[in-house]
Amino acid sequence: MNKSSVRIGVLGAGGRGTLARHAHHPGQGSQVVAACDLDLAVLKTCHETYGDQLRTTTDWREFLHFPGLDAVMICTPDHLHEEQALAALEAGLEVYCEKPLAITIEGCDRLLAAAARLKRKLFVGHNMRYMDFTRTMKQIIDEGTIGTVKAIWCRHFISYGGDAYFRDWHADRRNTTGLLLQKGAHDLDIIHWLAGARSVKVTAFGSLSVYNQGGRREPGTPGSAEFDRTHWPPLEQSGFNPVMDIEDQSMMLMELENGVLASYQQCHFTPDSWRNYTVIGTKGRLENLGDYSGRARIEVYTGRSDRFAEPDRIYRIPEPEASGHGGADERIVAEFVEHVRTGCPTWTSPVDSRHAVAAGYQATVSLRSGGTPQIVPGLTS
Ligand SMILES: NC(=O)c1ccc[n+]([C@@H]2O[C@H](COP(=O)([O-])OP(=O)(O)OC[C@H]3O[C@@H](n4cnc5c(N)ncnc54)[C@H](O)[C@@H]3O)[C@@H](O)[C@H]2O)c1
Repeated sequence: MNKSSVRIGVLGAGGRGTLARHAHHPGQGSQVVAACDLDLAVLKTCHETYGDQLRTTTDWREFLHFPGLDAVMICTPDHLHEEQALAALEAGLEVYCEKPLAITIEGCDRLLAAAARLKRKLFVGHNMRYMDFTRTMKQIIDEGTIGTVKAIWCRHFISYGGDAYFRDWHADRRNTTGLLLQKGAHDLDIIHWLAGARSVKVTAFGSLSVYNQGGRREPGTPGSAEFDRTHWPPLEQSGFNPVMDIEDQSMMLMELENGVLASYQQCHFTPDSWRNYTVIGTKGRLENLGDYSGRARIEVYTGRSDRFAEPDRIYRIPEPEASGHGGADERIVAEFVEHVRTGCPTWTSPVDSRHAVAAGYQATVSLRSGGTPQIVPGLTS
């Protein structure tokens, strides 16, 4: 497709679906022309954002067949991605699907096969690849500064876990598989990207150890995942989802196809929120302190010191100029639109998205079966 303006519909327009505003540039190459959401209040807000000419519906199947649509941004809960993205591809639309691509390995493989068969674009919302701190780490590695990568460790602190993941649909594993996949898909993708290979074997431990002690809301009453800083400390919280069968902390080990070993730790009841990556190569190591929320830096150690030492080089990450995950949301949407228009290469890869889901899925199998190691299947074709 090489057209002057891409006509976009957003499916699941509340919550993350507000991302579509970055694609709304009437007269400048792309425009949001349709929205679908079950919530009428969300559709009313969409009319205010995108104008009176916006077509809306609560029926996603009808929405996918609105005349004149070129592309759809799917921002509904995870368990809907597979069915809705498949239907969108079959309707001839180019697809932006939020992460995770699907909640099973088979679901991802079905989507990859459909996109190939139907010759449609399948672009997954791994916005972490568009953050300054991850790109700087990738650049340092690609320049060979720390030699050949052999080990990657990621610690993921999440202060808002009790708000975002334990009060609504996320808390029910039928909608997500679990948070190693749901939330971890971002970091597993970054680990694979920095290492240059996918996971082939994983093992994990995890538990639901804090939020299961809090009170639940009545079944049938609406849950809110709004962040609220007064929700602290973790053991004083309540209002949780009636069904809660996901883990609030997990620790995962990975063996990658190229021999790199990696670990990923995720905790949902920390006071602060950020990710700390350490990448160790044959000539040194790097580590980020802070991520996209300002004052972040990458420290690089390349000289030997037999004690705690000052880094040999510091890369300062600029203060984000735009909101939305440090400007990453604006960048990823701009690239999706350009990809639809011109077929330009992208920083994300649907196959890599599948590999992140596969690692997170098999790690979840492992942690729910006493930590037994699991092979991560590759693509069959
Ligand atoms: N890349 C990122 O940084 C990022 C950040 C947040 C969320 N996400 C992803 O975005 C997706 C949505 O997450 P969220 O937190 O916004 O969820 P949410 O529950 O806040 O919002 C989902 C929206 O979809 C609507 N919806 C649900 N079922 C629908 C259906 N059948 N038809 C039409 N609309 C429907 C809901 O009414 C709601 O407005 C998830 O897959 C999540 O993983 C990605």
